Amino acid sequence: VSATEEWAAEVRRLAERRNAVLLAHNYQLPEIQDVADHTGDSLALSRIAAESTADEIVFCGVHFMAETAKILSPDKTVLIPDERAGCSLADSITAEDLRSWREQFLDAGEPEPVVVSYVNTTAEVKAETDVCCTSSNAVDVVRSIPEERPVLFCPDQFLGAHVKRVTGRQNLHVWAGECHVHAGINGAELAERAASEPDADLFIHPECGCATSALYLAGDGTVDSERVKILSTGGMLDAARSTGASSVLVATEVGMLHQLRTAAPDIDFRAVNDRASCRYMKMITPAALLRCLTEGRDRVEVSDEVARRARSAVERMISIGR
Ligand code: 13P
Ligand code: SF4
Repeated sequence: VSATEEWAAEVRRLAERRNAVLLAHNYQLPEIQDVADHTGDSLALSRIAAESTADEIVFCGVHFMAETAKILSPDKTVLIPDERAGCSLADSITAEDLRSWREQFLDAGEPEPVVVSYVNTTAEVKAETDVCCTSSNAVDVVRSIPEERPVLFCPDQFLGAHVKRVTGRQNLHVWAGECHVHAGINGAELAERAASEPDADLFIHPECGCATSALYLAGDGTVDSERVKILSTGGMLDAARSTGASSVLVATEVGMLHQLRTAAPDIDFRAVNDRASCRYMKMITPAALLRCLTEGRDRVEVSDEVARRARSAVERMISIGR
């Protein structure tokens, strides 16, 4: 029996004893993904967390994801193996920033806006939000808002630009935040890789700075537009199972390659930028997960007041789209 198998057996035993469900985001280390009860994208994991009948939710992901689970299931214990696992995108807007943005918008004589926040935000920001979204349902969420209502979309500028492009909505205003990992996958790098592999599909996460360049490449004929797919991590898995391509260039955090290769072992998946690794996601180490299950920490708490104000925005999010 290998050390990894022994570790996995101990993790499973402790999880069972605690009546805990283990959730892992698609960017987690391969061994964490493999030991979890469920892996998935932000939307799928939020839905599973909301429906779970376990006593405890152990969230192998970053802090805002565990907070979202706590908002949806306030009576459950929610644990994260390392509470320092933050998110540079969630850090790019505070509740105070959002309140002043909205006030300035109204002071400029604009009509009452609908605030749409990406799930990659703190619970305090969600408490100032009308409806949350993830990358898999952002377009559907914005389409659910009456045309005449302006939308303040935060915090990701690249996801915001993508939603604006797809919906054609001119009254959508976007905050200038970004994720340091996805923003670092640049257009020049993508163009070079795409040109050298003319038969490969391109799977691009909408948080990427290169998503717009990919559409330019498709627009000017450098790349066949059929090959360019802008997808959430869950959407990438669905596309991997149905594409006819034998190779795929992947523009997102590199943890995604593990699920893709497992889902479609015959396809050659390669990262556009193999340095695109999220240090926060990787704080959830095998040792940290074991310690979490042994000691029952780190516990994720959201104050009743913040959770109460954030809940309807998160519940609307999980009710919309695939
Ligand atoms: P999804 O898994 O929802 O596509 O989100 C990506 C992400 O960056 C989460 O941190
Ligand atoms: Fe946040 Fe980016 Fe890491 Fe996702 S990859 S958790 S958006 S810092």
